[in-house]
Amino acid sequence: MIDPAVLIDAARAAAAHAHAPYSRFAVGAALLMEDGSIVTGANFENASYGLSLCAETVATATANATGRLREIVAVGIVGGRMGEADVDPIRPCGRCRQILNEAAQMGGRDLAVYCSGLGGGSIETHRLSDLLPHAFGPGDLGIGGKQ
Ligand code: THU
Repeated sequence: MIDPAVLIDAARAAAAHAHAPYSRFAVGAALLMEDGSIVTGANFENASYGLSLCAETVATATANATGRLREIVAVGIVGGRMGEADVDPIRPCGRCRQILNEAAQMGGRDLAVYCSGLGGGSIETHRLSDLLPHAFGPGDLGIGGKQ
């Protein structure tokens, strides 16, 4: 398994590309893949606010776009106010937990979820199954691996 700090650093680099002119809150996500490579995403807001996409969702869809949805093993997430040195960790929103669960169940594994602040700070470690207990997912529809 990767040093969580490496994944968090990749998430922080991704957050630099956040398109978040409305909230001014930048989020970066970095997915560790089975082969050790990293896929990243940043939040992508829209003038029609409700259409905004979270960083974790963008990263997961990016992995899927190259046929690698099932290969995600861990995720690093950072977020904070742009231009500030926020060190409080952020955790994935409810929708992103469900999005990540799609990848987890399709891959037949639980995911490690590392959380930190945009400006640094400590790294929290979670399991997706703790963040989204008793999840509904593809396994309930007879698809993918059920945990
Ligand atoms: N955001 C994420 O990218 N991921 C989360 O898990 C929580 C929230 C984004 C959405 C919006 O662009 C900004 O953070 C403020 O809510």
